[in-house]
This record gives sequence, C-alpha cells and structure tokens, in this order.
Amino acid sequence: MAVETGVLKRYSEGAEARQADLCCPVDYDRSLLALLPQEIIDKDYGCGDPSRYVRKGDIVLDLGSGSGKICYMAAQLVGAEGKVIGVDMNDDMLNLARKYQNEMADKLGSHRVEFVKGQIQDLALDLAAMDQHLAEHPVHKAEDILALREWQDHQRKNSPLINDNTIDLVVSNCVLNLVHDSDKAQLIQEIFRVVKPGGRVAISDIVSDEVVPEHLKQNQHLWSGCISGALQELEMLEAFVKAGFIGVCYDKWENQPWQVVEGLEFRSVTITAVKPQDEACIDKGHAVIYRGPYSEVYDDEGHAYFRGERMAVCERTYKLLTSDTYSDNFIGIAPAVDVPGTPWDCPSGSLRSVAESKTGSHENKCSPSGGCC
Ligand SMILES: C[S@@+](CC[C@H](N)C(=O)[O-])C[C@H]1O[C@@H](n2cnc3c(N)ncnc32)[C@H](O)[C@@H]1O
Repeated sequence: MAVETGVLKRYSEGAEARQADLCCPVDYDRSLLALLPQEIIDKDYGCGDPSRYVRKGDIVLDLGSGSGKICYMAAQLVGAEGKVIGVDMNDDMLNLARKYQNEMADKLGSHRVEFVKGQIQDLALDLAAMDQHLAEHPVHKAEDILALREWQDHQRKNSPLINDNTIDLVVSNCVLNLVHDSDKAQLIQEIFRVVKPGGRVAISDIVSDEVVPEHLKQNQHLWSGCISGALQELEMLEAFVKAGFIGVCYDKWENQPWQVVEGLEFRSVTITAVKPQDEACIDKGHAVIYRGPYSEVYDDEGHAYFRGERMAVCERTYKLLTSDTYSDNFIGIAPAVDVPGTPWDCPSGSLRSVAESKTGSHENKCSPSGGCC
C-alpha cells in the first residue's frame, strides 16, 4: 500500500472510532477543552499543543486538522476578528470536524472556523473542486490524465485553496511525519508560501534521534502511526531554515520518548519559526545588545551577536529582535536622531558606537567587534 492510501485508511478508521495507539498524551489547556464536544476530544491524535502560540486576531491555518480539536481551541483565542482554517485530505475526518461547526459557532458567538479539503504538501490545489471536476470529467484513458494535470495547474494558479502570504500563524499537530519523504521539502516550501511576511509557524510533531532506516519506513503501520515517517531531529530544523524561515527553534522538547523502536527514540517536539519581512535591509542606526547567557549567538541569516556588545543591525532585524518573540534575548537601542536610511553595507559582527546611536555620526561605522571571551 502506498503511503497516502495507508494514511487515508488509518485516519478513516480513526474518524469512525477512537484508536488508542494513535493517542500521545498531551497537556492541553483545559480551559480551552471545556467548550469542545467529547467526541472531538476522544478522537485526538495530536502529539503537542500548537494552540498555545495563537494570538488574538490571527488568521490561523491548521495542517492536518483531523477532528478539528486544535482549530476549535484556536478559534477561542483568535476572537471574533480572527479566523481558523483546517485543512485535511480525509473526507471522514473533515465530516467529523464539520459535524460540530454550527454547535461551536453558537458557543463561540460567530462562525470563525472552516475546514477545507487539500493535501498539505500542495496547499494550492482544492481537492473538493477536484472531486467535483472528476465527477464531470472522469479519467478513463491516458489523455484524460494529461487533461487533468492541465486543469490542476490552472486551478493552482487561478483558484488556489490557500493564497500566498495570507496566514498569520501556521500550526500543525502530528501530521508532517505522515507526508511522503519525497514531498517533505515541498510541504515546508508550501508553508513558507502561505505565511505572511513576519508571520509565524508552530508545528508540533514527532522527531527521531537517529535517521530512520528504510525497513522501518516501509512498515505501513509504523508510518501511519506517526512514527517511521519522522524526520531526524537536526534534519527537521534544517528543513525550516532551508525553506527560508528564521528564528527556527525547538520551543518544546519531550525528554521522555513517546515510542522507542529498535533502539531509536521518537519524541514529541514543537518547532517555532518566523517568515522574514519582505523588506530591504536599511541602515538607520539601530543597535541591539544580546543579553546572554551565552558568550555569542548567530541568527539564521548569519549575523553574530556578542553578549553585552552594541551590535549594529538594520531596521528590519531591529524590529524582529525587539518583537515579543525575541525581546527576552535582546535589548533594542533605537537611534536618537532620525537619519536618512542607506542600504546595509556592514559585515556581520559590526558594532554600533554610542556616538552613532546618540548623534547619527558615521565615524567608526561598521567597526568590528573583537568577539567575546
Ligand atoms: C495524526 S492525525 C492528527 C490530527 C489532528 N491534528 C489532531 O491533533 O488530532 C493526522 C491527520 O492529518 C491528516 N493528513 C495526513 N496526511 C495528510 C496530508 N498529506 N494532507 C492533508 N492531511 C493529511 C489525516 O487525515 C489526519 O486527519
């Protein structure tokens, strides 16, 4: 059985009746569960709680939304101005999640959750539209497949399921590992495509401590059970950096593995990251001080920050490092005088002199740090 059909079958069974072996214990926020129908809580196949990262007013996309639990939790946090979209490829799971849509809208005071049919590695293709198209244009011969491919390309371009740069926060709970290895890079590119510049991701998933050997990957039960499709822990983070995300981080890490198979540990983690703002790097005299506790750190764009030193940064990096997400690590020093911005031209590790911060003088611009300790 191919990966997709095995996963479809397993989660159709999971929509029909609770599958105990798919349930990984998670410490959800009980106050958010209180509003949820018991069936949704029972058919929970998640391994973390990405709803913790939702902010008021967010447009949230939940990849592999299953019974809709994370969507309905997120809906309570986004408020009436926000919106939550759950995407899943399995009709039985979509039906289960949609069964409670009206009840939840009444409880929440508005309709703010929708569930759409799609594959998370191809978020542009609307699978409900494709079902309808296939009903009218069934595939009988090779030419029909060629015509279907053309229709799909047209749809992706002209009626994408999820548009570019439209999502504030992409969440997912135990789904990335289910996607075929050959589609995993495209999946993370798709996440990058749909997130707004400055938008965030919070992905709870399973990672392995060692690269999973081929014979375990071939085991359909282990794959559809969220185990053998797991990326190795370093590969997972690198995949997000490679796609263009910054601030990539293991925000949660379960010390206790969820499963151990042939000595390999499979554990639940939550990865957070940010899509950089689509702005040029303009030097207007900003600086940040890295608070510590390490002697130096580097960001995902290769900039060095030495503890306690006034590091020169462009305006875009300044805004990011002084935002809620990073301000625990950095102190921001805005220029005292407004100077016309110039394209960034200092090497990584350059300092900002106190004189430049106070007066805008360019003496000692880009002076190198001696590094630390
Ligand atoms: C392990 S369950 C997690 C469900 C839900 N996130 C939760 O927390 O309970 C995986 C879900 O992802 C869906 N899924 C798996 N692979 C998918 C893919 N490639 N595209 C869309 N949905 C997928 C399955 O149908 C299933 O509903």
